[in-house]
Formats: sequence, structure tokens, C-alpha cells
Amino acid sequence: MNKDTDSGSDPISRPAASAEINLGIDLSDPGRLPDAAINQAVELMQTGRLHRYGEYSGTEPHAALFEREFARYVDSRYAIAVNSGGCAIFLALKVAGVQPGDKVLVNAFNLAPVPGAIHHAGADAVLVEIDRDHRISFDDLRRQAETSGAKVLLLTHMRGHIADMDKITALCSELGLTLIEDCAHTMGAKWNSRFTGRFGALGCFSTQTFKHINSGEGGIIVTDDEDMAAQAILYSGSYMLYGQHQSAPPESVFEKWKKRTPNFSMRMSNLVACILRPQLQEMEHRGHHWNQIYRWLESELNSIEGIEVPKREPEEQFVASSIQFHVHGLDKKQLMQFADRCTARGVAIKWFGRNEPMGYTSQYQHWQYLEAQDLPETREILSTTCDMRIPLSLSESHCVTIAAIILDELSSFKS
Ligand SMILES: Cc1ncc(COP(=O)(O)O)c(C=O)c1O
Repeated sequence: MNKDTDSGSDPISRPAASAEINLGIDLSDPGRLPDAAINQAVELMQTGRLHRYGEYSGTEPHAALFEREFARYVDSRYAIAVNSGGCAIFLALKVAGVQPGDKVLVNAFNLAPVPGAIHHAGADAVLVEIDRDHRISFDDLRRQAETSGAKVLLLTHMRGHIADMDKITALCSELGLTLIEDCAHTMGAKWNSRFTGRFGALGCFSTQTFKHINSGEGGIIVTDDEDMAAQAILYSGSYMLYGQHQSAPPESVFEKWKKRTPNFSMRMSNLVACILRPQLQEMEHRGHHWNQIYRWLESELNSIEGIEVPKREPEEQFVASSIQFHVHGLDKKQLMQFADRCTARGVAIKWFGRNEPMGYTSQYQHWQYLEAQDLPETREILSTTCDMRIPLSLSESHCVTIAAIILDELSSFKS
């Protein structure tokens, strides 16, 4: 097992490539929650007041406070806390006016809850090709928008890769598309100093365990539009207690919507919100830490022949909780073996070229409830795409060991 040696200016030890090296750290470790979150949760549980609404006095209205704090954090007028990122996207589609049978443009490199949310809204996903750096393809977006009749673009910043948002917003205005951003992988990230989630009509975030802040399950919608905010609150299930929100439009807006909006019971609980509030305070620090680890990994991986880490634009201020890379020179069978062998040595690598869905590696061909669509560029790009989580517990010497294991396994196919 490799020892963590990066204290002060000590040189990083470089393990000799050997099949015996194992990373010895769990890449799926989300890390302990901050003490403040744990203490707050225990205190709340002692009161039993876990539901966000009610005639409570003397306890903190955590869900309402979290919404207010999140809206302030991303600089939006309103934030609505819900029970998952998938529900946030579903509700965003509903309040954007998506009707059953409508078409919704969405990048083809995505995760299952995203086409799932479109299907949940009764709409049809129109998949758009991606480029080599895992962002939506502008050419295909224009083509699909012009031919499909879709009026909504659901843009996932997949694995934290942010497309040129100046170009995206210009294209959306030119083509009359409503933009919804899926920021499940970009909390705290910005394009040109503006937070993702703030370029379109609505932004959606997830607080599932493997996201930037962790409550097991949870989602947030942000918007500046008062009608959309009121509808999202009503849809999320406010039992006409929307007056208890602290990030909400005035009563007169609810008057317009309250008798015509069904309650889907997708609220966030106070317990979830109280766990998230202290983590939100740590976001800036976490972001720097994640990016430092990303830069170590990026430089180690790019030094291996046959590995290519996607390039990032200077305007892209990402918060990298995972890293992607292309592996060149191996066929499909070898790529699967490569990912499996690295995983067996502690470097849990997901490969997006698998024929069968596995863990979090779904591809568009696996969503057979969608109308069949062929995206040769996306297929080709994903066939060499590997992915690894970045837990905050990784040190620089872990990154060196990860690269040594990857190099070792890659070399085994060449000898
Ligand atoms: C890209 C993307 N969008 C949306 C979601 C939905 O989030 P949740 O799991 O909270 O429903 C996820 C979740 O993993 C995701 O990866």
C-alpha cells in the first residue's frame, strides 16, 4: 500500500510499477459530514420536527433557511428545495411549460435520471451529440433544434464540463429555446464568473451523496421568475403553507397558481436541509481542494502515453468532483479489462463504452423507452471515455499511485 508522503515540501515518492501496488483508499468515500451538520441533525431529531411545514415555534425552519442561503449563494431571486435532483429537473420542466408529447433537447452524454425526468413529464427527449471534451455539440444542437420543433433545451453540465455559455445563451435566444440547466455536477462552478444554473430560466442541483454537498438525497431549483418559483413551490407540495418560505414571490403570485397546480409531494425535509446548510458554507473551500486534486491527477494522467484528459476553457471555473479521460489504443474488450483491473487495484474506473449499464455508466442506447436515435459521434467519444471519482481525501501521493496503477495496467496490453 502506498503511504501518504506529501507533508510540507517532502518529495512525492513514485512507486515502481508493480502489480502489487493497490491504491488502498476507497474512491467512493464521501467523507464524514461536518460536526455542525451532525449536531444540528441530532438537535432537530430531538424535537421530531422533521417536516418542513407546520405550526412550529422554537425550532429553526431549516428548509426555508437553506433555500434563502442557496439563493444568496448562487445569486438567484428564488430557490426551491426538493427531494432529489431528478425531481428538481422534472419540476423545472413542468414550470417551463413542457406538456406531454413536447420535445426536449438534451445532451446525449448524460445520466439516467435526466432522460427519466423528461419521460416523467410525458415529453420526448431529443438527444444531441457531444464533442471530444464532453460538452454539447453546437452544430448538432442547432440542427436538432431546427428540425425537431423542441422549445426547451435541458443542458446537463455533464461530469462538470461546461460548454461555452455565451454561445449557448445566444443560440437559445436566436432559436427561441427556454434553457434549463442541470447542474448536478457543477454546484459552485462558474462560466466567466457567473454561477452555472444562472444562465437559463431555471437551474437544477442535486445533493445526492456523490455530489458537492451530501444529504443522501435532495435537489434544488433556482430561478428569477416569480411565476415559475410559485408553481415549483406549489408542485413540490406546500399544503398552502407557501407563506413559510423565505425565498418566494409575493402572495399575489400564488393567488394566480394555487388552485391550478397539483401537489406532487416532492418537498425537502428539514432534516435534509439542516445537514446541507453547514456544507454550503464550506463550498468555496471544498471547490479549491477538489480542483487542486484534479490538477495533480490531470498532470499525472496526461503524462501517460495513450491517455488524454479533456481540455478546459479558461472561462470554465469548474469544481471537479470527478475526472474523465480518454484511453487510446485499446479495443473494447481491452478497455473493459483495463477498467476492471484498475478497479480491482483500488482505482475504481468507470468506462462509458460498456454494452450493459453498470453502476453510474448508462449510455443513451440503454434508455430503450426513448424513440431510437443514433448518435455516432457520442458513441465514438464514449467508447474511449473513462471516469473516476475524486474524494477529498486524496493526497498528491495517492494521485501519483493512481497514475502508476493506470500506467501499469495500460502497459500490460502493449507487452
Ligand atoms: C447529470 C445528473 N443529473 C441529474 C441527476 C439527478 O440527481 P438525483 O440523483 O439527485 O436525482 C444526477 C444524479 O446522479 C446526475 O448525475
